[in-house]
Amino acid sequence: MSRKIIIDTDPGQDDAVAILLALASPENVDVLGITAVAGNVPLPLTQKNARIVCELAGKVNVPVFAGCDAPLKRKLVTAEHVHGKTGLDGPQLADPTMPLQDKHAVDFIIDTLRHEPPGSVTLCPLGPLTNIATAFVRAPEIAGRVREIVLMGGAYFEVGNITPAAEFNIYVDPEAADIVFRSGVPITVMPLDVTHKALTTAPHVAGFRAMGTDVGRMVAEWTDFFERFDKQKYGSAGAPLHDPCVIAYLIEPALFSGREVNVEIETQSELTMGMTVADWWGVTAREKNAMFMGDLDADGFFGLLTERLARL
Ligand code: BDR
Ligand code: CA
Repeated sequence: MSRKIIIDTDPGQDDAVAILLALASPENVDVLGITAVAGNVPLPLTQKNARIVCELAGKVNVPVFAGCDAPLKRKLVTAEHVHGKTGLDGPQLADPTMPLQDKHAVDFIIDTLRHEPPGSVTLCPLGPLTNIATAFVRAPEIAGRVREIVLMGGAYFEVGNITPAAEFNIYVDPEAADIVFRSGVPITVMPLDVTHKALTTAPHVAGFRAMGTDVGRMVAEWTDFFERFDKQKYGSAGAPLHDPCVIAYLIEPALFSGREVNVEIETQSELTMGMTVADWWGVTAREKNAMFMGDLDADGFFGLLTERLARL
């Protein structure tokens, strides 16, 4: 049966590919709504970009909501240096015509969890955790009704990408991440350790382009754009498709492997702010609170992605 999900996102080219993968996979995931949060770029752009992506997929009935425009306690840090000024730099994009919903994203998350059967809704955060944490603080009873949180964020062996110690999504709002990791909800984490193995090498990008569709061309141009930055930074063969790992996991969990560990979020030290301190070797007695992924079948991942995107 198709799994009900809410995608919480800050598009972002890799967020866009994740949304497309979900919208192309109705037999696996039923997207109840998309909630935008400030992250890669400010909120007015992330909510607009989410609608652009739905229109590109031809799914104009998916409701899109705008959420929090700033982290819980900090000034927003953005990532235009990676994603460009619009967040979706690369191809020329027209403004969306589908409407933004009037409801605040946090209200949508709370209402949906209150009304859907307990244990039936999975949250898929692809950006800073501000919307999710705000919902949990405002309506603590909903945490017990979430089936699972599958999120992109954090790093352990790969350490940081925005600072030497921290991954971007967690660094932007560490207090929100701390609330989520202490919520008691089952959490599956796609850290940089996994997403840095989902590299868009030249044959993959050629495969997207060869689809001969608008979606194939857009995805190729998006990956071409943010690849420049990552290739230079990491000296790698392509750019990491971080966020699609979350959706791929919901479709084909066997592509990923990891460990149940304790994960705590650094919220005090300026030096390591936003670090995901994962007890990978089990050296503390701290309670396990997350499935922390460590490896990915990259060929299987790109096979799935290409097959699904070709449907749109
Ligand atoms: C994460 O940060 C953003 O730049 C990407 O969209 C991804 O969610 C990777 O650190
Ligand atoms: Ca993202």
